[in-house]
Amino acid sequence: HPQKPVLLTGASGNLGRVLAQGLAAQGWTLRLTDIAPFPDPLPPRARFVQADLNDGVALLRQAEGCGAILHFGGISVEQPFETVLGPNLRGLYHVYEAARREGARVLFASSNHAIGFHERPDASGPQGNAPKLDVDCALRPDGYYGLSKAYGELMGRTYWDKHGVENVNCRIGSCFPKPVNARMLSTWLSFGDLIRLATAAVLAPRSGHCVIWACSDNPASFWGKDHRDRIGWQPQDSAEAYRAEVGHIVSGDPVEERYQGGGYASIGYSRSA
Ligand code: NAI
Repeated sequence: HPQKPVLLTGASGNLGRVLAQGLAAQGWTLRLTDIAPFPDPLPPRARFVQADLNDGVALLRQAEGCGAILHFGGISVEQPFETVLGPNLRGLYHVYEAARREGARVLFASSNHAIGFHERPDASGPQGNAPKLDVDCALRPDGYYGLSKAYGELMGRTYWDKHGVENVNCRIGSCFPKPVNARMLSTWLSFGDLIRLATAAVLAPRSGHCVIWACSDNPASFWGKDHRDRIGWQPQDSAEAYRAEVGHIVSGDPVEERYQGGGYASIGYSRSA
């Protein structure tokens, strides 16, 4: 396990709780933080501090002595610009300043919504034959939330180029206990693969700035090449086993079904042609 403690933001959230439990079980020393109280029993060797990502001084203090920051805190769904601004943009700046001060690596929980306005490959051809999207594709955020994730990836780019702060940007698809609709046969990331991804991102000797499609080994994935070899991560689970259960569950909304971002692409959509 890592030599220095690891700071986890968003610890009280869905993925934060999974990571806190899974990484503590590997013997890691964790510093947990969130604006909401931590709802579970505190894992061994972990400490929790309740704080707002808007508070840069608090973040600097929490990151003291840490070798990595797993940044999972913030607004995690589409919201108005003013709601996203503080936690996701200012908060991200505070995370990167803390990482710079400590010489820590950042794992940023980016999202498929940073590229959500790319069409799904199966909208243009039969599944499997259509080209999959490589990670160096254009950013095409599907709303204010997706824009904040695109900004986060770019901030990682800048802090690496300018200050040598390493960062692993994981474009998470859909990380839930199991897929619940047809889209998730493409985008699902299992909790096990998430924990293995965070582990690889922290333990890799070098990462530089890299971007990774964070979905399980799904045959129906929308996504192709990325930088996973840089950290030595390979997903082990697959959504395909759920096809019979959820493969028929589609929204009926043409915008939602056309774009990779799904329902987020259609929120407030007003384009007529
Ligand atoms: P979540 O909403 O359950 O957790 C986010 C946590 O951030 C919450 O506990 C919340 O209290 C905390 N938070 C919000 N504003 C804050 C602030 N101002 N200061 C401090 N903490 C604050 O979301 P979830 O599902 O756990 O996602 C974690 C991360 O992964 C998020 O950044 C999300 O955007 C990203 N992600 C998740 C996906 C998924 O499938 N669950 C897909 C793509 C990205």
